[in-house]
Amino acid sequence: KKITIAIDGFSSTGKSTLAKQLAQQLGYVYVDTGAMYRAVTLYAMQHGFVSPHHLDAEGLTADLKQITLHFVFNTELGYGEMYLNGVNVEREIRTLEVSSLVSKVAEISAVRAKLVEQQQAMGKEKGVVMDGRDIGTVVFPDAALKIYMTASPETRAQRRFAELQAKGDSVTYEAVLQNVNERDYIDTHRADSPLVKADDAIELDNSNLSREAQLQRVLEWVAAKTKS
Ligand code: C5P
Repeated sequence: KKITIAIDGFSSTGKSTLAKQLAQQLGYVYVDTGAMYRAVTLYAMQHGFVSPHHLDAEGLTADLKQITLHFVFNTELGYGEMYLNGVNVEREIRTLEVSSLVSKVAEISAVRAKLVEQQQAMGKEKGVVMDGRDIGTVVFPDAALKIYMTASPETRAQRRFAELQAKGDSVTYEAVLQNVNERDYIDTHRADSPLVKADDAIELDNSNLSREAQLQRVLEWVAAKTKS
């Protein structure tokens, strides 16, 4: 039988890497909820609702009806790419600029309500692996398998820095580490659905774990949950 797998944790803990591997191995659908918050942030930037020194939560809230998000499966990549109002924004939503504003936008309750509703609809059928900050606590509190991923801020900043560098983004390690720490703070301190480990989530610290070893370990957990 198929189950719902919820993966939560701080930024750059490797949630999406693990989620993509699981989806491929198990034939599940992968949903990257961070991409949805990023796409709303990109929309807010394009329409002047957010900048480094300004956030118009009311304006964005009033405009939410204008935002349509969907994933289009890319067979070459093996996962869905994010589309904002019909335009592929997969690349634009991964910049440090979006990363530095997304947590502020994700604090807006109306934004969370809209995205949570869409996520729940996407997970109606079992066989979904979804990653984010509130999947095991808010989106799918009944998920059969919940994983809470952690790693030290330095390990995570190093990983994100290498990724951005590989894409040709001219960032410094210090700027990335600062962004990781800022997002950790906002994500754990916001009033609405702060990042916390669900009581029944399994904590997975991968600071010293290879991707392969991690995948094998999680596949065993999945097998244990699906054998009944
Ligand atoms: O996972 P990713 O780092 O792409 O997420 C970007 C940001 O979106 C997070 O730092 C967090 O502020 C927000 N987010 C959220 N709830 C989710 C997924 C992401 O608040 N379920």
